[in-house]
Amino acid sequence: MSKSAKLIAYFSRAGENYSSGGIVDLPVGNTEVAARIIQKLTGGDIFRIDPVTSYPQGYQEATEVAREELHRDARPALSVHVDNMGDYGEIYLGYPNWWGTMPMAVFTFLEAHDFSGKTIVPFCTHEGSGMGRSERDIGRVCTGATVSKGLAIRGSLVSRAEKDIADWLGKTK
Ligand SMILES: Cc1cc2nc3c(=O)[nH]c(=O)nc-3n(C[C@H](O)[C@H](O)[C@H](O)COP(=O)(O)O)c2cc1C
Repeated sequence: MSKSAKLIAYFSRAGENYSSGGIVDLPVGNTEVAARIIQKLTGGDIFRIDPVTSYPQGYQEATEVAREELHRDARPALSVHVDNMGDYGEIYLGYPNWWGTMPMAVFTFLEAHDFSGKTIVPFCTHEGSGMGRSERDIGRVCTGATVSKGLAIRGSLVSRAEKDIADWLGKTK
């Protein structure tokens, strides 16, 4: 495999979520929908960032667990890691905006691998806060990596975002 191979690594939580002013029950999380579109358009490999302990299905409970993890600067354990990270030159990193940044499980993922010399291309789904402070946080954790301009997609519009994603991918090349 060439070093320029692409990896799409994402965290996404299916279940109850807040969307356009109400609560919806998502069978597939919004970030996963975006990750699959990116996978289709780039032909990269796809990897799910999967915490050992799942987040609650209920929206309210999930926000409480996430807030507590953020305050504690927690690093939730992951069930699996990428053992061939050396093969990839470009990593599309996807996550929902949780309390203004990435879920703490994404910090666990970033700290578990060496991204120096690689390009990280962030994408995020959200309900109003955009990328928040996530790009800065990625740059802080992944020393030696180049962090490209990310794409923020409103979660409730993700199924209609293919054109925006394709345009953005054109600019990240
Ligand atoms: C724990 C939690 C915290 C969230 N915090 C924010 C936030 O700070 N800003 C925001 O715009 N959206 C926030 N949201 C909404 C999610 O970012 C949005 O619904 C996203 O598309 C969910 O992606 P997923 O389905 O891939 O998990 C939050 C959702 C959850 C469950």
